[in-house]
Amino acid sequence: FKWTKRILKGGVVIGLGVLAWTVYELRHPMPQFEWDPKKKTIAILGTGWGSVSLLKDLDTENYNVVLVSPRAYFLFTPLLPSCTVGTIELRSIMQPIRFLTRFKKREILFIEGNCTKVDPDSQVITVEDSSQVTGDVSVTNIKYDYLVVGVGAENATFGIPGVKEHASFLKEAWDARRIRTQLLDCLESAAFPNQTDSEKERLLHMVVVGGGPTGVEYAAELHDFLNQDITTWYPEVAGKFKITLVEATPHVLGMFPPDLIAYTEKTFAENKVDIRNNTAVKEVRQKEIVVFNRDKQTSETIPYGLLVWATGNAPRPLVVDLIAQLPKDVQNQRRGLVTDDWLVVKGSPRGSIFALGDCSATKWAPTAQVASRQGAYLANLFGHLATMKREKAKLEDEGKSPVDVIHTLPPFVYTHMGSLAYVGGEKAIADLPGNIHIGGMLTFYFWRSAYLSNLFTLRNRTLVAFDWMKCKIFGRDISRE
Ligand code: NAI
Repeated sequence: FKWTKRILKGGVVIGLGVLAWTVYELRHPMPQFEWDPKKKTIAILGTGWGSVSLLKDLDTENYNVVLVSPRAYFLFTPLLPSCTVGTIELRSIMQPIRFLTRFKKREILFIEGNCTKVDPDSQVITVEDSSQVTGDVSVTNIKYDYLVVGVGAENATFGIPGVKEHASFLKEAWDARRIRTQLLDCLESAAFPNQTDSEKERLLHMVVVGGGPTGVEYAAELHDFLNQDITTWYPEVAGKFKITLVEATPHVLGMFPPDLIAYTEKTFAENKVDIRNNTAVKEVRQKEIVVFNRDKQTSETIPYGLLVWATGNAPRPLVVDLIAQLPKDVQNQRRGLVTDDWLVVKGSPRGSIFALGDCSATKWAPTAQVASRQGAYLANLFGHLATMKREKAKLEDEGKSPVDVIHTLPPFVYTHMGSLAYVGGEKAIADLPGNIHIGGMLTFYFWRSAYLSNLFTLRNRTLVAFDWMKCKIFGRDISRE
């Protein structure tokens, strides 16, 4: 017994020592190699799932790296819906990009800016400082040997009038912040003295357009906010709070198996979240939307207080511009850059451009899981390219093109690890490999632990775990910033 106690004590001391050393190391990065003009330069566009996963795994001993993004942080997007109601604080799912670049072997040139132009022939990108504060220089050109386009996508609006002017999107950190503010604004305005009943009903009607995972998870978070907080802090208006999810196709979560779709729709019905399937939004006005019901073939106007638009992805202007510069016979997809199985953008001169994640048009769904695997794959591919100098020279002597050289390496292979979605009331669904479909409370804990372990850093994991605990103990913060 005495020995067990001693071993336990020793274990605790060693554990604390390791933790203290890890924290010390995190705060005190080592000196880095300098930029080496003899090495090839990789320009990476974006700080989303694909680009950051590439950066994380890339051996920078072999390359100079330029990272360009208007967003100086990585955002753990799967938990973004939780930030709209304050279950999690935004900063907990953000990781400053310099916390990552500073730990690479070689100095990384990070530019906070928008890449506005790619010139594939001269292998040059143009970057503009898009922030509110700029210096005398706010445009620069960078020459690259390899370019990795991982700029993601923007929100699809399908040209529907009024969406951009009146709806809130849910893609970026500022979208979640805006939704949280507007939601609390709707509640306070509804509680304003002498507000008419019809105006109260409008202000408290939360409409979500798009029944994909984003729309479903946001509606689920709203339901929790209503049940766990609004009823307590806004008892005078809580009864009028209503959530409607509008989906153009016959069912929500089209990419999930039918039993999980049925489970989600049943859970929403129990939670009094109104799903309007087969209903397409045709117009968005300042205080109401016009919808068309495909079953009844009728149109209707629905008043709303807050409208969240989650109807999927559309390519960014930079990607559209790049596609237009490449041969039309190979770049024939409107949704993004067509790549081969090695993630080389088809038709790019000398195989110098790669694309990954939501800006590419592949056979896989535009998910975080795919993008992050593609990033890890590219890091490995660049590692191989740096070490196969002799083979490369031999292949080039044999008349092989740079793309042929890349094609001697293994292609990208994707194994799907499953999909998860939160459906509200501490219930989640999981579509796992091996045809395993589960839903309920236990799946919710699985969902939480999967997301916690997938968070990029120990810092994010700690912050999110604390937020969940804080929310359980004290409830959500309802102060409007
Ligand atoms: P999505 O493309 O999956 O879903 C958009 C939905 O909006 C579709 O069901 C579509 O029918 C509907 N829609 C389009 N126009 C409409 C209109 N005018 N009126 C009403 N409904 C309309 O978009 P989402 O949810 O943003 O997801 C984007 C990608 O990210 C998907 O590939 C998704 O699988 C992935 N994702 C996965 C998550 C997960 O697995 N938990 C979480 C979030 C995103």
